[in-house]
Amino acid sequence: MFGFVKGLSKYRLAFLLILIAILAKLYQKDIVQLLQIAAARYLNTAANEHTETVPVKFTDTRDSIFTSDQLSTYNGENGAPIYLALLGAVFDVSRGIKHYGPGCSYNFFVGRDASVSFVSGEFEHYDPATADDVLSLKANDLIELAKWQQFYEKEYTYKGKLIGRFFDETGKSTAYHQKYLVLLDEAKIAKAQVDELRDRYPGCNIEWSEAKGTRVWCTTTSGDGKVREWSGYPRKLYNRDNKNFHCACVPEEELSDPMFKPYDKCADRATECFYRV
Ligand code: HEM
Repeated sequence: MFGFVKGLSKYRLAFLLILIAILAKLYQKDIVQLLQIAAARYLNTAANEHTETVPVKFTDTRDSIFTSDQLSTYNGENGAPIYLALLGAVFDVSRGIKHYGPGCSYNFFVGRDASVSFVSGEFEHYDPATADDVLSLKANDLIELAKWQQFYEKEYTYKGKLIGRFFDETGKSTAYHQKYLVLLDEAKIAKAQVDELRDRYPGCNIEWSEAKGTRVWCTTTSGDGKVREWSGYPRKLYNRDNKNFHCACVPEEELSDPMFKPYDKCADRATECFYRV
């Protein structure tokens, strides 16, 4: 009795399988499509879950955002990497451990943004309120800082941004940063003008003696050794601040330009002048 029932259910199973096979053949295309949609949905969900649950490690990403506290932990102690920030940009300087490692000459810069010290040379006292406040620096200092930044970009690995004066917590450039960039541009333009002037009006030769004070004079070779065909006359050429000047050799036809001031007690066409400060 039970054997007959068993046999019957065996046939039912076989019949069911044959039916499935026929249907599968008939709807093969639709089944494949359905499977593809299901697989895509599954992969999408898996990807979303992945980004939500896997924590991002600061050290593993290239453009991270650091708080000052986080940055200070990258100090080379107990095997930690060595990071420093310059103008809000964070660099991994672990490769330069001989300069930046604990106890080394430039360890002062590590784990912080001490941009001002890159031009002041002050490596003793760190005041977080002023250490990266660069807007009041002189134009040439801003250019120096930009050179340091280029140096770190070239020599070391850029890691991200420090939340603070230069970047906000989303990594966006702050108004302060924009102001710095404007000042830097102005500084570069001013420097280009000065360089151009120095090129056009070469520096005088210069020497100092106790007896005569400072002597400036012009020959066909300028103070920095460049040779030209004309020698010119020594004149004071003032900087933009109008306080400091340097001695420039000016050709005859341009002596009347008001940007040149004659030396006191020096004849108009003298090729050498003396003065004391
Ligand atoms: C404003 C003043 C100064 C600043 C901000 C400064 C900064 C630095 C920094 C950051 C480095 C490491 C560069 C790197 O990562 O490869 C360095 C290297 C060095 N500095 Fe200074 N420095 C200053 C003044 C001086 C002075 C006055 C001297 C010499 C008396 C000097 C001699 C050196 C030397 C010999 C090296 C190593 C060069 C090398 O091994 O490649 N620095 N300086």
